[in-house]
Amino acid sequence: MAELDAANLMKQAVGKAAADRVKSNTIVGLGTGSTTAYALEFIGDRLKKGELENVVGIPTSFQAEVLARKYGIPLTTLDVVDRIDIAIDGADEVDPQKNLIKGGGAAHTREKIVDALAETFLVVVDSGKLVDKLGSTFLLPVEVIPMALTPVMRALAKLGGKPELRMGIKKAGPIVTDQGNLVIDVKFDAIADPAELEKTINNLPGVLENGLFVGVADVILVGEIIDGQPTV
Ligand code: 5RP
Repeated sequence: MAELDAANLMKQAVGKAAADRVKSNTIVGLGTGSTTAYALEFIGDRLKKGELENVVGIPTSFQAEVLARKYGIPLTTLDVVDRIDIAIDGADEVDPQKNLIKGGGAAHTREKIVDALAETFLVVVDSGKLVDKLGSTFLLPVEVIPMALTPVMRALAKLGGKPELRMGIKKAGPIVTDQGNLVIDVKFDAIADPAELEKTINNLPGVLENGLFVGVADVILVGEIIDGQPTV
């Protein structure tokens, strides 16, 4: 098996630490992305070993659903359960107030539904995701229904952003979300008021959800390399 690079070693360490916090008889929100993928793998391992019992997951994307099936995590839906005990999900940026930018995997709409419903939302990131101000390194994803693409792009530019339609591999066509929509990535140079911008963008007709998660995260687990060792 190929050796993991530093970023993946941090993701693996933090994914394991998150999986270790899952308890038996719980409903777990299953996030999307490469860091959460490690958490799902370790939850599956613990279920196989019998360390965990009666855990059911609620996936935040088709991708998470496929991985959960691969790792043997039973699944349920929001129609059937009355609570989510813990959600584990990654982020693209985390500020000192635990506000996030998410949506690098175009899954932020379902992620916000599941993560916001969880009793505890546990964010799993490597240290490269920590920023002083949101928007300093990552573009803000905005999911938009296709017919509203152009007016929403104009409105985002009026708000001071530089919007770009997210394209797929080889730029052969746009990325399409699990809901059949498009994603606009917007460059804002350091977001002064994330709570205000989250509401303002979500009020634009045609916008389904944006990737600002303000006041949703409870615990941030950060993977780092210290003295050459992955540490959380
Ligand atoms: C997907 C997300 C991901 O959680 C976020 O992009 C982090 O991904 P990764 O762990 O691969 O860096 O928000 O929509």
